Amino acid sequence: MKSQFNDSSITVAVVGCGGFVGSHLLDAILARTQWRVFGVDLDFYRIQHRLRDERCEFMVADLADKSVVERIAKYPVVVNLAAICTPSRYMAEAPEVIRSNYDHPASLADACAKSGSWLIHFSTSEVYGRTSADAGLLVEDETPLTFGPVTASRWSYATAKLLTERYIAGLKNLKWTVVRPFNFVGPYMDFMPGVDGSGIPRVLANFSSALVRGEPLKLVNGGVAKRSFTSVFDAVDFMFALFEAGLAGNSVENDAGKSPFSQAFNVGNPDNEVTIAELAYKMRRIFAEIKCVDVESIPGPETVSGEEYYGEGYDDSMRRLPSVEKAERLLGFKAQTPIDVVLRESLTWFVGHYSNTSHPGTDSASS
Ligand code: UGA
Repeated sequence: MKSQFNDSSITVAVVGCGGFVGSHLLDAILARTQWRVFGVDLDFYRIQHRLRDERCEFMVADLADKSVVERIAKYPVVVNLAAICTPSRYMAEAPEVIRSNYDHPASLADACAKSGSWLIHFSTSEVYGRTSADAGLLVEDETPLTFGPVTASRWSYATAKLLTERYIAGLKNLKWTVVRPFNFVGPYMDFMPGVDGSGIPRVLANFSSALVRGEPLKLVNGGVAKRSFTSVFDAVDFMFALFEAGLAGNSVENDAGKSPFSQAFNVGNPDNEVTIAELAYKMRRIFAEIKCVDVESIPGPETVSGEEYYGEGYDDSMRRLPSVEKAERLLGFKAQTPIDVVLRESLTWFVGHYSNTSHPGTDSASS
């Protein structure tokens, strides 16, 4: 174990510790380090098993509360995963989406600049905006960021997230790193509509729910958009590569002269790029294998229009292919898990978890 991971004097604040990514990160911090965790969220159902852990302190709160923000910024490392990040809400609740994704993180950034904490802020691959079907690799410090018109409220979230990135990068005394997740998937992602959340979750949870219910998978606008799906466990490994680099000697330049500070990193897996239609057929096949049934007995996908499905103002990124060169060069990190492995693991979990559908919890407001 690296010496910084053995240092029991370190406490990491994790805002959104009860969310999909936060819950996996919390488990990994407790398993791989001697650190303590100060966890903040509104919903803790994914981390019930950690609530009595003596290395953890939890607070039921969000960043709207200034006193909570000051408290979080006392810790040397602050990871902010809190966000409203389900596309179905970007149109219906644009002002709330903007407040939660700009106002709140900006006030946390101010507090971290004042206290000297290292802020690791989770942004989004959606900052690359309305990418076309022939968009190439998306490169952190090169690719232009182009959004759709203001009437397409789909971009409310990306606009707020990008403004937060710019705010963070503009703060003079802030030690910061921005993470841009590319479609993280795995166990505990989102929710099952009508069981532990309402509305439309992201595609993995939505397709999993349809498969479990024996309903057709809905392909928005034919399912021609492409995404690169990344295992949440690879994402957690990225965080450890980042922690290691950032805490090495606790200086602005780490030993190898490769600073992880003042950088935005894509975290994704370009080897796992598929169209959404391909994803649907893969998930249908894997589900049939898990259930030991003939794939033809499972309803096939059907097409629906974006506006009909999500509401007025829906728009889409047609391709999101991450360049991962920077994470490899500065942190020695590369995602490893192939898409079929991630999907099998996620679907197996989903089928087991929701076989008894009376689970507590709500749709989480954390990444
Ligand atoms: C969302 C968030 O907005 C991003 O910020 C976030 O980074 C990203 O998820 C992520 O998980 O990393 P998006 O990729 O559009 O962005 O999220 P999904 O709702 O999972 O949709 C992916 C694609 O599948 C879209 O083209 C969508 O139209 C389509 N889709 C979704 C379907 O065809 N059927 C569904 O039932 C759901």
